[in-house]
Amino acid sequence: MSLWGGRFLDESDKLFKKFNTSLSFDYILAKEDIFASISWSKSLVETGVLTKKEQKKIELALVSLKKEVDKNPSQILESDCEDIHSWVEVNLIKKIGELGKKLHTGRSRNDQIATDLKLWCKNNIQIVLKNILNLQKKFILSAELNYNVIMPGYTHLQRAQPITFAYWCLAYVEMLKRDFSRLEDTLKRLDISPLGSGALSGTAWNINRKKLALSMGFSCATKNALDSVSDRDYIVELLASASISMMHLSRFSEDLIFFNSTEANFIELSDSITSGSSLMPQKKNPDALELIRGKCSSVYGSLFSILVLLKGLPLSYNKDMQEDKKNLFDTIKTWNNSLLMANLILKKIKLNRLICYQAAEQGYSNATEVADYLVKKGITFREAHHISGKIVLKAINDQKALKDLALSDFQKYSLLIENDIYDHITLEACIKKRESKGGVAFNQVKKAIIREKIRLNIV
Ligand code: ARG
Repeated sequence: MSLWGGRFLDESDKLFKKFNTSLSFDYILAKEDIFASISWSKSLVETGVLTKKEQKKIELALVSLKKEVDKNPSQILESDCEDIHSWVEVNLIKKIGELGKKLHTGRSRNDQIATDLKLWCKNNIQIVLKNILNLQKKFILSAELNYNVIMPGYTHLQRAQPITFAYWCLAYVEMLKRDFSRLEDTLKRLDISPLGSGALSGTAWNINRKKLALSMGFSCATKNALDSVSDRDYIVELLASASISMMHLSRFSEDLIFFNSTEANFIELSDSITSGSSLMPQKKNPDALELIRGKCSSVYGSLFSILVLLKGLPLSYNKDMQEDKKNLFDTIKTWNNSLLMANLILKKIKLNRLICYQAAEQGYSNATEVADYLVKKGITFREAHHISGKIVLKAINDQKALKDLALSDFQKYSLLIENDIYDHITLEACIKKRESKGGVAFNQVKKAIIREKIRLNIV
């Protein structure tokens, strides 16, 4: 049943009806639509459209509709209503008859959908924020547990300098902190109510929009109705925030896929988040990680899709905007699931400490230390770098680690090198020296863990 039949002589074509409906995906906005409708009904009392008694009757009917929806949300899908707004109104009228037809006074589906969507985003952002926090906690706990596990750090995927697993965890905590604050920013900007904007130019009824906004939990009301019904910036921001965060989760996945490879063998993933091959019995594939990495593509697609959707739209509302929802809903689901999956993966990870250590010892990740040692003896860094390079070349030719070269070998390249070189180039020494703020030194990492535990309220 449509809400706008009066002006029309002909029935909608079946194909058009199917093409036009958004109910199959906007039905998840039922809770928000009912909530905003109750608030709207209260505003209508102040304008004199509804008596207090009438409002109460509408409110009770909407509350009971909400209960029915909670029990069985998919009942909505059985209806042939155009969208969730029509569905709520039609069902209200079914419950209380003529009185229900008063609710839409002064309101348009254009300000309704803008309001419902913002309310949905507000509710769902809270869930994402919680999942981001929980993942940070998991990283911190894993850092604490593996605080002294030394492993190679990479640049260009070449062993560069030794780091610790804890330090690697803390890097992801920093990324997640930025994801969190980006989302908080998005939330701040979207927390403004468009209800009472009408179709595009405001409502002709004397609605106290600020009061209405506050009653729905918004911080204030929008300032220009034309903008209010056209604005979907918050979806763009939300999808951009999701894209950046998924990029972080994808890099996390890529790191772990590599750490888990037979070639690196730094970690072992739990059976419970990996799968086997139907053909090759030896295989244990990191599916969960690959899927996080893979799911990024649809999230990025959503960001691009909303930008393209909006870029050519004249003010104000256009039906194109109905297409903003599916990708948004899917993205938030994917984002939440990926955060939860990353958490589970981390919880079940097993580190091969010895292999990590041995890998850090190989690959000359302590070559910088030789250069720094020479600088301390008075040589310029550029010269020291050159000498260390020669020493590394010698070690490569002899198929030895730097620590296994004889003192006489070192001294072939500089007589300034003495027996204490060996203490300078142990992995532990390399790490301990990096005491400056943000460095990998054990002390720095320990302090960072304590700081983060206090911030995250981990007891
Ligand atoms: N289903 C529509 C959407 O999602 C609701 C707004 C409809 N407004 C209209 N003027 N047809 O955008």
